[in-house]
Amino acid sequence: MKTIILTTSKQDIEAAGKILKSGGLVAFPTETVYGLGANALDGAAVKSIYAAKGRPSDNPLIVHIAEKEDIIPLVEEVTPKAKALIDAFFPAPLTVILKKSPLIPSETSGGLDTVAVRMPENETARAVIKASGCPIAAPSANTSGLPSPTKAKHVIEDMSGKIDAIIDGGDCAYGVESTVITLAEEPPVILRPGAITKEMIEGVIGTVNISNAVLNGMAENETAASPGMKYKHYSPKAEIILVEGSSAKFCEFVNSKKDAFALCFEGDEVNIPHIAYGYENDDLSQAKELFSALRRLDEMGAKKVYARAPHKEGVGMAVYNRIIRAAAFKVIDLTKPFFIGLTGQTGSGKGYVGEILKKLGFNVIDSDAVSRSLTEKGSPLLAVLQKEFGNDILIDGGLDRAKLAKKAFSSKESTARLNAIMHPAICEKCRKQAKGLSVIDAPQLFEAGLEKECYKIIAVVAPRETRLERIIQRDGISRKRAEERINAQLGEEYYKEHSDFVITNDGKEDVEKQLLKIVENIL
Ligand code: TXA
Ligand code: MG
Repeated sequence: MKTIILTTSKQDIEAAGKILKSGGLVAFPTETVYGLGANALDGAAVKSIYAAKGRPSDNPLIVHIAEKEDIIPLVEEVTPKAKALIDAFFPAPLTVILKKSPLIPSETSGGLDTVAVRMPENETARAVIKASGCPIAAPSANTSGLPSPTKAKHVIEDMSGKIDAIIDGGDCAYGVESTVITLAEEPPVILRPGAITKEMIEGVIGTVNISNAVLNGMAENETAASPGMKYKHYSPKAEIILVEGSSAKFCEFVNSKKDAFALCFEGDEVNIPHIAYGYENDDLSQAKELFSALRRLDEMGAKKVYARAPHKEGVGMAVYNRIIRAAAFKVIDLTKPFFIGLTGQTGSGKGYVGEILKKLGFNVIDSDAVSRSLTEKGSPLLAVLQKEFGNDILIDGGLDRAKLAKKAFSSKESTARLNAIMHPAICEKCRKQAKGLSVIDAPQLFEAGLEKECYKIIAVVAPRETRLERIIQRDGISRKRAEERINAQLGEEYYKEHSDFVITNDGKEDVEKQLLKIVENIL
């Protein structure tokens, strides 16, 4: 099929209207994103939209109208709240969902008993609808799953050869799709945030809820109130990872990355390849640029992109909702200590895993070394220990570790006293040493309560016999002594249950391969 490119001239709009009336497909600009239109009352025409987009057919379409009163025949009833919203906002980037009338074919409503209706603010859009003489079903004019089109060139990229015509009406004013609110429920629920914010809507009709799925992912078995919410969305080919944090933290984090791209705000001091999507404190500018920026990252050949997270207030909620879907809900939160915990029983081969992580560029903090440095000769902490456990834990003014261990581990109560002194200090020093992506290598991660500091935990396990052999060899101790040490530790099951990832280091399985897969999952 040859796709003709039309302008916004009167003549071209008339031509577009004719194509739509006769069952064809026309992409046209709206103030949100470009729409791919068909006669909403013609099931066959609507079906061809799904085909052109490659969209699952249980995902219903928004019906676009040119005048407020055009909604009346499409719905069972224009409820008082619907009327209030229409009067206050239409034409606007706002879609209302009501019980449908029999006029709406199931192809348009995706088999639901409701219909979504919107009157666009964009004049070309309304002129096209008017010229067609029918309500127009129009999803965003992108290939399903890709970022929505905010420029005619995006539509041409996705839809050339698949539809009858594309009207080039320049850039879309808002850049994110309309706010979708269902009035078929009480209180009404915002299913998709957009430029008409919750606060603006509540100013007219009082309390509305926001669907859980707006800012969070959905559980696998949950059903979507708005079917469009359940699909991976808006995503370019590149893998996107959303990063929460200030400009300074974000820049420090991404500037250490090799072979990665950044999606940042204007003014962020990023020195890896990057694209800015608007300004930090201007959510409308972010909305306008986001989808276009995602497409440009693909053009630049980005494989992995760290994206700076927007705030979630006002229109920021719409921006966040789109970007977190583009990231398939992968988020790194730099506002929290970002540690990966590495732990495992003695002899499990945890040290080897730590070495690989170092080579991969992680800042590996050895908690044993931290503990030793904190209790060096003359340190304040050593004085505290001396006061608590007596002068005989010292040798030549330094700490006699064996002596301290003997005293502290003689009873549960004295172990607790030692931990109460050491663990907060260890945690604090580890936090201070954290920069970029840090790993805490700690055999006693759980015992020390360090697991609470960790974003993810990797446990290294190995069969008991392997561990025994390793520590007998490494430390030159008897089998009996080795057994005692192993028995004093938490069991393998505990490590498995309390960790996010488990690496088997039994001398047979490929440790590096297991680790690389985990790292890919974490970042
Ligand atoms: O800004 C917009 O709304 C753009 C422009 C072209 O107008 N259109 C648009 O349509 O974004 P689309 O199809 O890409 O997104 C429509 C969303 C989907 O998430 C869909 O599941 C939801 O609205 N939706 C449509 N009808 C619904 C209904 N009856 N019940 C629940 N959700 C519905
Ligand atoms: Mg869409």
